Amino acid sequence: MVNESDSMVVVPEHALIAHKLTRLRDRETSSVLFRNLAREITQILMSEATRDLSTTKDERETPLTSFSGESIAPRIGIVPILRAGLGMSDTAHEMLPMARVLHVGLFRDEETLEPVYYYDKLPTPPNVDLALVVDPMLATGGSAIAAISRLKETGISDIRFIGLIAAPEGIAALRAAHGDVKIWMAAIDERLNEQGYIVPGLGDAGDRIMDT
Ligand code: PRP
Ligand code: URA
Repeated sequence: MVNESDSMVVVPEHALIAHKLTRLRDRETSSVLFRNLAREITQILMSEATRDLSTTKDERETPLTSFSGESIAPRIGIVPILRAGLGMSDTAHEMLPMARVLHVGLFRDEETLEPVYYYDKLPTPPNVDLALVVDPMLATGGSAIAAISRLKETGISDIRFIGLIAAPEGIAALRAAHGDVKIWMAAIDERLNEQGYIVPGLGDAGDRIMDT
């Protein structure tokens, strides 16, 4: 179902990701360790997902001489999809301290698996040029699609999605709904089960991050 030659879906081949993801999935991993691992994997994905950001010239001086440096050009918004996205957004914000953080609250209805919107305070017109949406799990894709649709409604057109584990179904749905949004994931798993959980996955990311 996932088109392996699709340049809009990036799964970095990285030994650190493979090592950390193994521990993240492990049911014996504590909530404290789970949060640390999620942060560390997010760091790697963030550096991949921001590799090609545009920069402007920034003329400065070292103690010895003047030099021409660079600064990130776009105003960036980090958009965690609540709750589980919070497990990635602090790391993203540490790496991009000049970014704004825009929260979007969504949960999946357990019966229908449809996303239910409960919170956002997105400014219109937007005060960012580029939105980096973060959510560890892309299962049916419903939550990511709804959050990105909402961002587009406010006028943000440049959007990237960064997550930890996807189901092929979620990738296909997100690509179909928002073909302009590039996706970075640590892994694309086998499938969704009947309850809409990613298999093998890691269980409920929000519960494991928040220890609920
Ligand atoms: C999880 C996850 C995603 C969503 C993915 O959130 O963090 O937001 O499910 O599923 P989907 O692709 O089928 O929409 P959940 O609804 O469990 O809420 P939570 O983050 O508050 O735990
Ligand atoms: N949300 C999760 O937290 N885990 C899944 O496997 C699917 C959706």
